[in-house]
Amino acid sequence: MADDTRQKIIIDTDPGQDDAAAILLALASPELDVLGITAVAGNVPLDLTARNARIICELAERRDVPVFAGAAGPLTRPLVTAEHVHGKSGLDGPALDEPTMAMQVEDASAFIVRSILENEEQSVTLCALGPLTNIAEALHDAPEIAGRVREIVLMGGGFFEGGNITPAAEFNIYVDPEAADIVFRSGIPIVMMPLDVTHKVLTTRVRTERIAQLPSRAAKALSEMLLFFERFDEEKYGTDGGPLHDPCVIAYLLKPDLFSGRMCNVEIETMSELTRGMTVVDWWGVTGQAANAMVMRDVDAEGFFELLTSRLDTGFSRRD
Ligand code: RIB
Ligand code: CA
Repeated sequence: MADDTRQKIIIDTDPGQDDAAAILLALASPELDVLGITAVAGNVPLDLTARNARIICELAERRDVPVFAGAAGPLTRPLVTAEHVHGKSGLDGPALDEPTMAMQVEDASAFIVRSILENEEQSVTLCALGPLTNIAEALHDAPEIAGRVREIVLMGGGFFEGGNITPAAEFNIYVDPEAADIVFRSGIPIVMMPLDVTHKVLTTRVRTERIAQLPSRAAKALSEMLLFFERFDEEKYGTDGGPLHDPCVIAYLLKPDLFSGRMCNVEIETMSELTRGMTVVDWWGVTGQAANAMVMRDVDAEGFFELLTSRLDTGFSRRD
């Protein structure tokens, strides 16, 4: 059999309409081999993120992708959710059928550990779209995986852009700062997609309409999700469209040149309540601390939406 040259990824996620866009982009892209999807509590509680991950797989006609349930809350803190943005279900917008595909029995962090140990070293990429609890638990349970992970590409944090759940912190990091601290100290190569990037990829009316015009059921459902999801940020920021955060992670794997940034030292605030979850990014190199993340700051927004829309167009056939 010809060598499989696809890039192996695990998507850790708290769907979330923008998570749905990221998962659909990944499943529509032949360059990627999605080993599994691990659900984590975040935008909505775990029972809903686990449900939503399976709904998205079924929309993509990919019931073959295993979905695993992970952490029902942060390592040490009470869960904070974001129904005010995503709606009560986490995927408000379209009318969606309940999933019929089963959850896997194996726990998410156990699946992450097993996948990394069973596959070649440096062959598995972790795509983190929510709070980092599952990945932190995997690192706690099997520290030896840190040297085997190809890289972690994560949506999280902010620096010049500030925060979105507090003035200082972005939601994914804010929910579980201790988990983020473990991940950023792990030594695993990290690519960070902060609000500084994601606030530049707005679901403008024109862009959402292009997706709505696509023939597949998945694209139509996503366009209705985005119309719901964007309203909160449109009102907050006064913009045409809302930031499409999570697909930046997958777009980076497909077309890294869409993004630009620099290697920086990033540390996570875990002690202060005022700045809990702040990603302290040493963009100007004033600390002399070793860089531990490629921090992205700019993106070709038109190129990003061309990629997303073209993959949604070619990736799914079901029309009804
Ligand atoms: O702050 C935005 C991030 O928090 C996105 O990943 C969104 O889905 C929520 O998880
Ligand atoms: Ca998310």
